[in-house]
Amino acid sequence: MMKPVVFVTRRIPEVGLSPVREACQMRLWEGELPPPKDVLLREVADCDGLLCLLTDPIDAEVIAAGARLRVISQMAVGVDNIDLKAATARGIPVGHTPGVLTEATADFTFALLMAAARRVPEGVDYVRAGKWRTWEPMGLLGMDIWQATLGIIGLGRIGAAVARRARGFAMRILYYDPARRPDLEAELGVEYAELDDLLAQSDFVTLHCPLNAETYHLIDERALRRMKPTAILINAARGPVVDTAALVRALSEGWIRAAALDVTDPEPIPPDHPLVSLPNCVVVPHIASATVATRERMATMAAENLLAGLRGERLPYCANPDVYTARA
Ligand code: GLV
Repeated sequence: MMKPVVFVTRRIPEVGLSPVREACQMRLWEGELPPPKDVLLREVADCDGLLCLLTDPIDAEVIAAGARLRVISQMAVGVDNIDLKAATARGIPVGHTPGVLTEATADFTFALLMAAARRVPEGVDYVRAGKWRTWEPMGLLGMDIWQATLGIIGLGRIGAAVARRARGFAMRILYYDPARRPDLEAELGVEYAELDDLLAQSDFVTLHCPLNAETYHLIDERALRRMKPTAILINAARGPVVDTAALVRALSEGWIRAAALDVTDPEPIPPDHPLVSLPNCVVVPHIASATVATRERMATMAAENLLAGLRGERLPYCANPDVYTARA
């Protein structure tokens, strides 16, 4: 029997690649950067399966070009780069990798929060520049984390994991989510707040919502102006949840104190962008899930979803489950 043809859009950890190589006729894009759109369109044309990353625009055009496509499997939890509607309309299930990156991402959210609050990158730059000549009573003063108020926007898996860590810092924890979570309110001692109240009361505002029409530019000028001038914004969700131009002004003009961003809009952010040179902005290159073990679990899960789809089985982790009901 002919093995199914699969296009993998970048080299991923070997634990994910080897089962795909074994079961399929695998074509791997070896570039360091994502395949250009014309390559994607060409490759997908005769593929049964696609294993992609969040950097690949899997839009309606790509989905339409994949005339034989039976499954799309993304090695990420967020799928905002994929036109789920177009995939569902074609009966193509889309796999993703929820759960396995929750703890690594929550850990990293705290790394960002603490780096910005305690000015760690500025301290590193200071030492590297040879400016450390004595202990300074008022040098590099930051903000307290212990017992501060944390506002979590989006209390899903990652938001809840961040709340669990915040309890260890005796933080007061507010959350905003379109879905009230009485179970987590009881378990984690988190308090529900309307978005405006959360913004006004929090010392740290951290974003853990998916990017969609409702959350695009959720943190805009109005939201930033509601925050305390001492507040710090953390984004480990998706760049476009924040209005970048408004954030540049907020940080330059002191509407808020600092920001720490794992994700940006645009992404990648050019090195000469104002956000990169602002001393009160910590920017890192979308690495919240970047641990050896987490990326291996993500690759394994992406392979499992892909192979299940090629066998005609239900994907273990499907981002558009209505594809199954729509077909029935
Ligand atoms: C990373 O951003 C992911 O969605 O997995």
